[in-house]
Amino acid sequence: MSDSITITRPDDWHLHLRDGDMLSGVLPYTARQFARAIVMPNLAPPVTTTAAARDYRARIMAALPRGFDFTPLMTCYLTDDTDAEDIAQGFANGVFTAAKLYPANATTNSAHGVTDVANIRGVLERMAEIGMVLCVHGEVTESDVDVFDREAEFIDRILAPLIADLPDLKVVFEHITTAQAVDFVTQAGSAVAATITPQHLHINRNAMLVGGIRPHAYCLPVAKRELHRLALRAAAISGSPKFFLGTDSAPHDRAAKESACGCAGIFNAPFALESYVTVFDEEGALERFEGFASHYGPDFYGLPRNTDTVTLRRTEHVVPDCVDAAGKPVVPFHAGETLGWAFEG
Ligand code: DOR
Ligand code: ZN
Repeated sequence: MSDSITITRPDDWHLHLRDGDMLSGVLPYTARQFARAIVMPNLAPPVTTTAAARDYRARIMAALPRGFDFTPLMTCYLTDDTDAEDIAQGFANGVFTAAKLYPANATTNSAHGVTDVANIRGVLERMAEIGMVLCVHGEVTESDVDVFDREAEFIDRILAPLIADLPDLKVVFEHITTAQAVDFVTQAGSAVAATITPQHLHINRNAMLVGGIRPHAYCLPVAKRELHRLALRAAAISGSPKFFLGTDSAPHDRAAKESACGCAGIFNAPFALESYVTVFDEEGALERFEGFASHYGPDFYGLPRNTDTVTLRRTEHVVPDCVDAAGKPVVPFHAGETLGWAFEG
């Protein structure tokens, strides 16, 4: 049983960094562990143009404390009115790495999202031509669809037809939560991949609802039944390059989570690698952790792998109940639990 693991420095292929004080508060947690991150554009207002992404990237770099080497990879929030020419220019100029499809009203700050993928057919065609990745929040939004079925319905109603229509489009099905998504991605061609969060590998829906309602276990897509968690764990440790790390770390201050209408989002950045490596360890798959965490993401995006390394050591430590994010209390994933691995740097 190895007591430490050293791997190529990982990247986070799905991250919410927010803006302003919250950005300054949460960025060091991610920059400590990851070299790069795909930064979500769901600010208020959302990042919908090359100019807005350039400005946001500058704010992120200004918030980065000295001594950190971190590169934010920017995404464009797609709307019904996205200008294909603008995002193609932004991609060519190295401002955008990917574009994000939020079905309108699927989640936090998605009100300006796409109401029908037919409205962005031209944008997607252009993205397929230039090799720009589409990141997808895969949930339907119809009010008659049960919240636990929204991902599976999205596959049948939206994703499968989209991929059949544009087979060359590179698609990341983000933060997958179901066995149906695992099966779909496994069977799809090499242009389709998925990210998996730490929380969906650790918790099922009982974590939200048994013994009291637990807002810090609530995110979207919501955690599903145990059989789905087991399918996600099998996919993550499978060694398939179609499944890679994306935390979906989504900080909200404590009061916004512990409310009559609590926000969706789990803040897992402070102990993200410790959380993931625990899963690989429990599954007896430590030798496949590096592929998932550090290789398959850059390979899919066509970016170079990082050249430096990080080390995690088998050491027990208790996760704090709350961390400070520039003066705001935020409850981290695994709060109060003992983790068996520590990040050494
Ligand atoms: O739980 C979530 N939180 N899911 C999302 O899709 C958005 C995110 C956020 O921005 O808070
Ligand atoms: Zn997200």
